[in-house]
Amino acid sequence: MKHAVVILAAGQGKRMRSRTPKVLHPLLGRPMVRYPVEAAKESGAERVVVVVGHQAEAVKEALEDAGVAFAHQQVPLGTAHALAQAKPLLEDFDGAVVVTSGDTPLLRPETIRALVRALEEAGGAGMALLSFEAEDPTGYGRVVRGRDGRVVRIVEEKDASEEEKKIREVNAGVYAFDRRVWELLSRVKNENAQGEYYLPDLVALYLEAGLPVVALRAEDERELLGANDRAQLAEVEGVLLDRLRRRWMREGVRMHLPETIYLEPGVSLAPDVVLEPGVVLKGTTEVGEGVRIGAYSVVTNSRLEAGAEVRPHSVLEEAHLKPGAVAGPFARLRPGAVLEEGAFVGNFVEVKKSRLGRGVKAGHLAYLGDAEVGEGTNVGAGVITANYDGEKKHQTTIGRRAFIGSNSVLIAPVQIGDEAFVAGGSAINQDVPPGALAVARGRQRNLEGWVWRRRGEYPSESGG
Ligand code: UD1
Ligand code: CA
Repeated sequence: MKHAVVILAAGQGKRMRSRTPKVLHPLLGRPMVRYPVEAAKESGAERVVVVVGHQAEAVKEALEDAGVAFAHQQVPLGTAHALAQAKPLLEDFDGAVVVTSGDTPLLRPETIRALVRALEEAGGAGMALLSFEAEDPTGYGRVVRGRDGRVVRIVEEKDASEEEKKIREVNAGVYAFDRRVWELLSRVKNENAQGEYYLPDLVALYLEAGLPVVALRAEDERELLGANDRAQLAEVEGVLLDRLRRRWMREGVRMHLPETIYLEPGVSLAPDVVLEPGVVLKGTTEVGEGVRIGAYSVVTNSRLEAGAEVRPHSVLEEAHLKPGAVAGPFARLRPGAVLEEGAFVGNFVEVKKSRLGRGVKAGHLAYLGDAEVGEGTNVGAGVITANYDGEKKHQTTIGRRAFIGSNSVLIAPVQIGDEAFVAGGSAINQDVPPGALAVARGRQRNLEGWVWRRRGEYPSESGG
């Protein structure tokens, strides 16, 4: 049977206590609502409709490239009312209509398919719903079954009697309906504790219409966790992270204290990568074979080629390390930092929009911005490219096998030739030809005995 999926995402999510709508809270760097959308697509849905309302524009923007249609719910009158908004988009659809929530991000595509199958296989059933045994059912709708074990209705927490509250089988908020759903929806009433139109009321309405309702029990309650507040949000993110870490460990990645390592779904890792405790990998970071990333390093949208190494406490963003390049400890590589093979950037060195040629060494306390550094050059401690004149950025070009002495300022735009030697402490504002020595600093004078003379401890040369 074909199926379409409707994702309800019009609510505000008051329990989050946030200006951000619930479904836009990020999970591993992606807005929550993207997860059910992806699951819907992977389940093979022919159409995906997202019902938006609260901060609709922001939610639509987060799904701009997702290839879904939108329905609008102007006022949040309840989940049944939300689904009714999708009617114009789906009433002609000839197949099952699956409904899920924007705040149930762990739902897997297999489960969507299983629910559609359950509806189909029940022969003549009008509705299939997903339930699970909750460790703590608080907040969920309870599944009420009759003496024969069949589902009779669902009762929301706020409407439940003390007896009903003890039921641990709860409604996951994921359903598959046949085409009659559109007509039955118009019969849902809002006579309940919250004055809302409840989607779960369709259970009773289908039964009244003489159409069986089947409940599919999910095996793993973790898959159906709803992210309604910050604690559940953290719990859900933990589950997603756990899935990701396990996947990469299966693919040959070594993680020390994996529970301390944070990864995002766009990250890719090769076999024999070693991640030390506290490592954070974000965005589209790509890590090649055998790369080691030191403890507490944060790497975002970067590329680390095979055999590169990031030492502890380094922060990399849009950086590129070629094979055998090394950064850190305490290195800061900003967008456009490229370390060619075997280049080395040490502690407290910041690199931005600069290419460091093969074997370049910048071991300590330097800033290299808008620079090109040729192969084999040594950049001393405290070297600064003064790339900004208060209005514009300028380029520094350093040749091969040059030596830039400690604490030199290279005032850009400036060029240092191949094999040139800049004396420590120089302020360089003119080009240095290849092979030349540049000294640009105040000349040192030593006044012999000056200190003692001042104290009067030492006879002056003039005898006074
Ligand atoms: C809902 C179910 C409950 C179930 C639980 C599972 C109802 C009445 N209750 O409760 O039985 O156990 O999910 O997680 O359906 N939404 C709208 N418009 C509205 C109201 C809600 O789009 O007017 C959206 C919300 O954005 C959310 C989803 O529907 O994504 C579910 O709403 P929520 O308020 O979280 O329902 P629960 O109280 O969790
Ligand atoms: Ca919910």
